[in-house]
Formats: sequence, C-alpha cells, structure tokens
Amino acid sequence: MEIPVIKNENYKIIIDDLGSRGEGIGKIEGFTVFVEGGIPGDILNILIVKVKKNYAYGKLMEIITPSKNRITPTCKYYKRCGGCQIQHIDYKEQLNIKRKIVLDNLERIGGIKGVSVSETIGMDYPYYYRNKAQFPVKKGKNGIDIGFYSLRSHDIVDIECCEIQHKNNEKVLKIVKDFINKYNISVYDEVCHKGLIRHVLTKTGFTTNDFMVCIIINGKSLPKSEFLVKELKKIDGLKSVILNINTEKTNVILGERCKTIYGNPYITDYIGDIKFEISALSFFQVNPVQTYKLYSKVVEFAEFTGNENVLDIYCGLGSISLFIAKYVKSVFGVEIVEQAIEDAKRNAKLNNIQNAKFKAGKAEEVIPEIYEEGFTADIVILDPPRKGCEKNVIQTVVNMKPKKIVYVSCDPSTLARDLKDFLQCGYRLENVQPVDMFPSTVHVETIVLLTT
Ligand SMILES: C[S@@+](CC[C@H](N)C(=O)[O-])C[C@H]1O[C@@H](n2cnc3c(N)ncnc32)[C@H](O)[C@@H]1O
Repeated sequence: MEIPVIKNENYKIIIDDLGSRGEGIGKIEGFTVFVEGGIPGDILNILIVKVKKNYAYGKLMEIITPSKNRITPTCKYYKRCGGCQIQHIDYKEQLNIKRKIVLDNLERIGGIKGVSVSETIGMDYPYYYRNKAQFPVKKGKNGIDIGFYSLRSHDIVDIECCEIQHKNNEKVLKIVKDFINKYNISVYDEVCHKGLIRHVLTKTGFTTNDFMVCIIINGKSLPKSEFLVKELKKIDGLKSVILNINTEKTNVILGERCKTIYGNPYITDYIGDIKFEISALSFFQVNPVQTYKLYSKVVEFAEFTGNENVLDIYCGLGSISLFIAKYVKSVFGVEIVEQAIEDAKRNAKLNNIQNAKFKAGKAEEVIPEIYEEGFTADIVILDPPRKGCEKNVIQTVVNMKPKKIVYVSCDPSTLARDLKDFLQCGYRLENVQPVDMFPSTVHVETIVLLTT
C-alpha cells in the first residue's frame, strides 16, 4: 500500500478509536494514524510528525469539531503529567471505552467470539480515589521536583496537588520538599546512582483515616529525620513513618528492607467488615471503594455454599481470602511476597478467621508442589499481576479440576491470553465484568467467571 501521508504536512482526520495508552486513532485513506489527545468522535487538524511502514503519528494542531464526549480536564497538570490519560473524556464514556477495551482484547488476543461483556461498574465520584501514591524525587531545573513522570519520560512534573490521590498528599509533598531544601538533603540521580531520597510513598486507610509516609532512600539512614517526622505528625491521621532502603541501581521503586522511624510499621483499613493491617511493602488494591464492589462480585460469581475448599492464587496480603472466608469451608492463599503473607496471617488472626491458611512462594512453584502432595480445590481464584499467569499455573489449576474459576485481572491482554488456554482445556466463559478501579486512566480491572 502506498503511504498516503507525508511528514510535516497537515491533514484533517476523524478519530474513531482509542489506543492502549489512551491515544486517539483515526485513518487517512485507510492508513492508521495515532494522535495524542484525540478521542473518538473528534474531527481534528493534525501535523504528521512520524511516518512508519504501517502507521504514522500525528500532532493535534486544532480541534475542528470536538467529540460529544470531550470535556475540559480540571487538573492543571493534565497535559504534561503521564499519570492520567483520559481525563478529557466524559466519565460515562470512559466506562464505555473500558468495556470496549476488554471486549476487543478477548476477541483479538483470546480469539473468543460473541462474548457478552457487562457494563463497566463505575464510581459515583471518580476523584481522590487512590489510597496509595508513589512520587519520584529529582533535582530539576528550578529546584527539587516531586510529582509524577511525564508521558513516556523520566522527567518529573512537579506537582502540588493531584485529583486522583488522597488530599493528604498535598501536605506531604510540601513538607518533604521543605525538609530537603532546609536541611540540604541530597536527592537521587538515577544516571550516576548518587544522592539519597529516591521516592516518597504514601498509604491511606480510607475508612480509618490512618496515614503512612514512606521515604525511599539510597542509603541506610536519613539525616535530620526527626525534623521531618515532627512536621509530618501535623498531618491528621499520621500513624507511620517508614524508611525504605533501596541502594540498588534499578527502576524498581521499593527495596526489601524497611525501618519504622515513627509509629507502627503498618496502617489499618477495612474492606467490608474485614480489618487489614497494611505494611509499606505489601500490595493492597489502590481504590478501596471499588475493591469492595470487586470482591463482592467474586462472592456473587462463585456462589459459595459454605462447603468449598478455595485456592486463592496471587493473594497479596490475603484480602480476597479473608473477605470470602466466612462464605467457604476453607481458603488457601499463595503469594510471592513474604511480608504480604506475614500480613495475611496477622490479618486472619486480627479478624479471628480460622479457616484461612497462607503460603509464601512463587505460584509457578508452590501450586505444582501442593498439587503433587494431593491438594485440590473446588473453586480457584486467580488475581495475577499484569503479566498474567504462568503456563504451569494454568495447567495445574486445570488438573485440580475446580468446578469454578474466578479470574481477576488488571490487564485485559494477558487475561485474554490466559482465558484462551482455559477455554481450550474445556472451561466455559460465563461472565465478564469490567470494574473501574482507575478512573481517568486507561487501566481497567476485569472479573471473569469460568465454569466446567
Ligand atoms: C494484582 S495483585 C493481587 C493481590 C490480591 N489478590 C488483592 O486483591 O489485593 C497480584 C499479586 O501477585 C503477587 N505475585 C506476583 N508474582 C507472583 C508469583 N510469581 N507468584 C505468586 N504471587 C505473585 C504480587 O506480589 C501481588 O501481591
């Protein structure tokens, strides 16, 4: 096919789809063009900035006719910050788009035709919903920058506020920046691997108002930390200040060791009536309002009778296991992070739950091991990280012959890949339910029910 666009020339384009990073997609004489900032329904004037064999990139120069779903984002950093991608789309339409993303992935990657995907479960108020924030710290042109990475780069957009994070973060950002400046504390330079403060991590208990601040450092201690703690203590609900030691030359944010320099090593929060102690290192769903809806769907899909032995693979700090414990005979959770398993065991005790057991280890090793030892499950819950399940985890789960599998996924493409395997092994796809855990971003959580 002859390429119908020329670099540095302007074109009119109708955007009719959205890419995986939230970019608009349209066609010029059948040739695909990606346009950052475009949304389906827009008619745009664009400048072609890059041309490849099968597609091109266009820069949005002018909105000729806006899509009926286009809104003006309220965040003043939105254009520069890479944290949110679709804040310029009306929330109802965001939910439609997420449903379509799930459907497209199931069809394209999973090869699953004619699947029915339910309407995305959204939020009544899709702002200030995150209970966890991770801010990189860097020396910028005009001083210390603390904020979020800008789109596709390691430059930091220095921010004072964020519309999807808890309001307490605004105070933390100011306090940490003032502390660094006042006491001349060095900040990390990822190129030469020198400097102390790398990231600031915060966690909030939405129902308890507990608040944790964790400073990630390239070193063993933080000079003058008592002055930082003194300021942080002014924040309502502060329960914990942690130093996390990360001296590795890596993009991974957290190191393995933590030191508590004020309060407890964890904060507490509730999902439904289950109380959780959450430490700096353990995974906890970031949107507690939607987590309750998600876990309630797990219960709804599984239709527990009280007689089931359940296997919860990739269990984190046992949040699904403990949430469902009262509906089942027993639940066994497996998770790679040892501290999360310690949290899970402590949380089981905290809630006086006796039918939940946990084991730390890689699912791809533990699941075949316990199967060899004779373990089987009536219902399996899978909630893997973005990369999805290892092949041998899928195979061993199939060998266990559970009558139901509930798969919770934060990446529709790996979900689709893994579902294909389960369907080939004879499972049927009963329900596909997207849940919006991450408003204003392109990410979507999906919960799926497979039956025999
Ligand atoms: C999406 S989280 C789900 C956690 C939990 N189910 C929840 O709802 O909070 C995925 C979890 O899988 C864990 N994980 C990652 N790779 C793993 C592996 N190979 N084996 C076991 N767990 C793993 C992560 O540490 C994380 O806690």
